[in-house]
Amino acid sequence: MLNNLNPLVSLCKRRGYIFPGSEIYGGLGACWDYGPLGAQFKINVKEHWWKAMTHRQDVVGLDSAILMHTNVWKASGHVDGFSDPLVDCKDCRFRFCLDKEKETKKDPGSCPQCGSKNLTKPRDFNLMFKTHAGSVEEEASLVYLRPETAQGIYVNFLNVQSSMRKKIPFGVAQIGKAFRNEITLGNFIFRCREFEQMEMQYFIHPKQADQHFEYWLQERKKFLTDLGLPEKSLRIHEHDKEELAHYARKAVDLEFLFPMGWKELEGIHHRGDFDLKQHQKLSGKKLSYFDVEKQDTYVPWVIETSIGLDRLILSLLCSAYKEEKVKNEQRIFLALHPQLAPIQVAVLPLSKKDQLNTLANKISTFLRKKWRIEQDETGSIGKRYRRQDEIGTPFCVTIDFDSLEDKKVTVRHRDTMKQERLDIELLERYFTDQYIN
Ligand code: GAP
Repeated sequence: MLNNLNPLVSLCKRRGYIFPGSEIYGGLGACWDYGPLGAQFKINVKEHWWKAMTHRQDVVGLDSAILMHTNVWKASGHVDGFSDPLVDCKDCRFRFCLDKEKETKKDPGSCPQCGSKNLTKPRDFNLMFKTHAGSVEEEASLVYLRPETAQGIYVNFLNVQSSMRKKIPFGVAQIGKAFRNEITLGNFIFRCREFEQMEMQYFIHPKQADQHFEYWLQERKKFLTDLGLPEKSLRIHEHDKEELAHYARKAVDLEFLFPMGWKELEGIHHRGDFDLKQHQKLSGKKLSYFDVEKQDTYVPWVIETSIGLDRLILSLLCSAYKEEKVKNEQRIFLALHPQLAPIQVAVLPLSKKDQLNTLANKISTFLRKKWRIEQDETGSIGKRYRRQDEIGTPFCVTIDFDSLEDKKVTVRHRDTMKQERLDIELLERYFTDQYIN
């Protein structure tokens, strides 16, 4: 169990998962680049989410634009309400967010950097990034980078419902980038300025809100444990009145026990008809639903599930990270779910000699038809195992000189380091069974 993020941050950089953004220029706060393994891991997690959410009869997918009409953010309440109260220290000039200080139970009346009580009054700072569309930098061309993906779904409610002939209840899911000019930084990819969200809006009849809320809460919890998050590292936190966002009637966080404590991982929100009604008001377009059977017209209510992909990646890496002592040496490995691991099988010929390489190439080529394979011939076998352990590769296939004679290879298991000798011909069957179980 990790008690701070440093060993994980270092592993991620060392092994090609996550690098600091713009590093050669000194970095850019709260922006991160996913390396080759991180990018693959992210795609695997996204695929699992997409499958769980949209490979069902009542939910469809969407991919809406990041840039949207400015009125979208007026309607959603983000222009007026999406802000943090900022305070400046008049002595050391440090700027900090009052709410975040209160959250961490520090004294909000003194500067967290120098302790001075000589502070400015709090001023609201909007968290949306602004940019301009077109060539003229004037008010009319102002656009925001979206701070959540949800609004792209609301403005397309009628397009999706009518084109897909959906009856209520139905949901619309999407994965996409969101941007927030966060003030409180740190904790690796937990809070980023550019991040990805995986959100789903479920449109329902107002009378059925409680039952759908409970259903999605349980579904989402199950999804997280299926990916490998331990039950004991997850808990539910219901927002009290003061915590509720402006749009929410009820909100429950699924919290994960990160090394820095219990923190929000995913939110399930009962948004009522707030968003559709607001968009009706500002656009002048009707956003209601007509129930043909009941001859009833109404503005649907919404149950939302919203998770940050980067935060999910962090929780999966934290819970997979293991350290143990093996023959007085430290072994680090990532016990990732075999379907999520960026590399699923490493093919390791013991020597670079031609014959072994030819056999290794053959094995890699046929296993690659089904799984993500890395073939590695460089360095001692011990170092190569260590690298695959740290990457989280569930299996290594080692090819030695005996393999040329007996047509067998050694399969090594990441978590137990157990080794077994198997016929090359049986490898495909063997890995198929391993991944099904
Ligand atoms: N549409 C509702 C919404 O955006 P939120 O609680 O502001 O609600 C939802 O965000 C999820 O997005 C959070 O639970 C978190 O996982 C993720 N998230 C929010 N801000 C983030 C940030 N700055 N960096 C990484 N993830 C973030």
